[in-house]
Amino acid sequence: MNDADRRIREIIMQKTKILKEADLYVISNRGIIDEKFRQVYHIMPPIGWMNDPNGVCYAFGKYHVFFQFHPYKAEWGPMHWGHYTSKDLIHWNWEGVALAPDNDYDSFGCFSGSAIMHNNELCLLYTGVTENKQEQVLVRSKDGICFDKFGVVIDRTKLPEGALLGEFRDPKVFKRADRFYIVVGSKTEEHGIVLLFDSDDLVNWHSRGILWEDPENSAVSECPDLFCVNGKDVLTYCISKNVNGKPQLENRYIIGCFDEKKGTFKAESMEKLDHGDSFFAAQTLLAEDGRTILFAWMNTWREKFYTAPFGWVGSLTFPRVVNIKDGGLVQLPAVELKELFVPNESIILDNVSIGMEKRLNDVGGLSLSLKLCVRYEKAGGFGIKLFKGEKEPLILYFDKKKDAVTVTSVAENKTYSCPCFEENGRIYLHILLDKTSAEIFVGNGKRVLTFNINPDWIGEDITFYAVDGEAIIEKLEFNPINNK
Ligand code: FRU
Repeated sequence: MNDADRRIREIIMQKTKILKEADLYVISNRGIIDEKFRQVYHIMPPIGWMNDPNGVCYAFGKYHVFFQFHPYKAEWGPMHWGHYTSKDLIHWNWEGVALAPDNDYDSFGCFSGSAIMHNNELCLLYTGVTENKQEQVLVRSKDGICFDKFGVVIDRTKLPEGALLGEFRDPKVFKRADRFYIVVGSKTEEHGIVLLFDSDDLVNWHSRGILWEDPENSAVSECPDLFCVNGKDVLTYCISKNVNGKPQLENRYIIGCFDEKKGTFKAESMEKLDHGDSFFAAQTLLAEDGRTILFAWMNTWREKFYTAPFGWVGSLTFPRVVNIKDGGLVQLPAVELKELFVPNESIILDNVSIGMEKRLNDVGGLSLSLKLCVRYEKAGGFGIKLFKGEKEPLILYFDKKKDAVTVTSVAENKTYSCPCFEENGRIYLHILLDKTSAEIFVGNGKRVLTFNINPDWIGEDITFYAVDGEAIIEKLEFNPINNK
């Protein structure tokens, strides 16, 4: 047993039976999972299942990331909260299981929620779920490691008229002018809504009614968040849209103005938070240095989870710094990414001419960062194939005429597209690959596309090609990221 495990064992002694069992299960079994497709620099569950990031915050001098966790199987089950901390957003320490379904009010699970510091305590608010109820529960901690459940602080009687009794979850707490607020996801008979509550002590909450209704959302507006960045308010949540008779999940953001006195949100613009197929339940934290940092589940609700046969499912996006530029959100990987680079392994290339499909020196691998600035005024289009082996799982294609990028996920048989924001004849790209995931930042972060890759499909090559002419990679910066 190493020191970290010994420390967790000491903490476990103070926990409830169900919580202890979960903790001991993780410590005793995480060694048996198949490491082959474990990611190198993204947060994953130590074993079992992970979905939404929860309670992301900066507290007690560290970043905290909790998450929806089912330790016992690589599939969704009674929800616990797993807990990691980090001083640098790069190296994450397992802190054990923070919450388990061990009370009457959460016997079906501790669903998603959030965190805030108050009176020197780290306070969590989550949804306690039973067979027929969803209610909001307060939890407090003096050290940020062991948590005491205070109990239900917002029960169903506080739901405003029109909200469905059984659909009331995912509180995100924040503070404005000395008052606490939470946004919570819910639904009317017809569509998704975001509810607003306020409090001055986190215990006594008052309903402020429906803050936001989304007629396009036929489900609960899950995992809402409301934060302020660059002087604007941003509301985010997940929706399920009906597209050709099939539900399509997406995260949307709305930039606007939140008036806490009136309890209203006035929208100015709306867009998808991510344009790929594996991004859900985003949540932000405010870092000590003022950055707004976003994490999301780097999967989505789908039938097949590729890594389940290896004993684990789910990872979180690399932390993204969020800003507003030209009226839209810009997301870029936190600069701490650089800590993962090995100086003598990086490759920098200038003015590489691309015609027929080709590889470039040692630019390839399964876990890496690749930054590109490309000019393609002398071509009809420019493409990149990622994870190429015998198969070609992910193909990016920049179409000159349309000023758009399409990403084809061959394994999923789907194509995704968004504008590519050419600037002075150049396109800017930052790609993060990590074994079973790809995060593609387009136009200096104006759009992001996130994907899961089927491990059966991945190969180590990256190839570049131009269509109808020649493209020039004006600058390429490649950094492999190795296990440390
Ligand atoms: C979103 C979600 C939340 C819920 C949690 C349960 O992915 O459905 O609404 O709290 O997952 O694990």
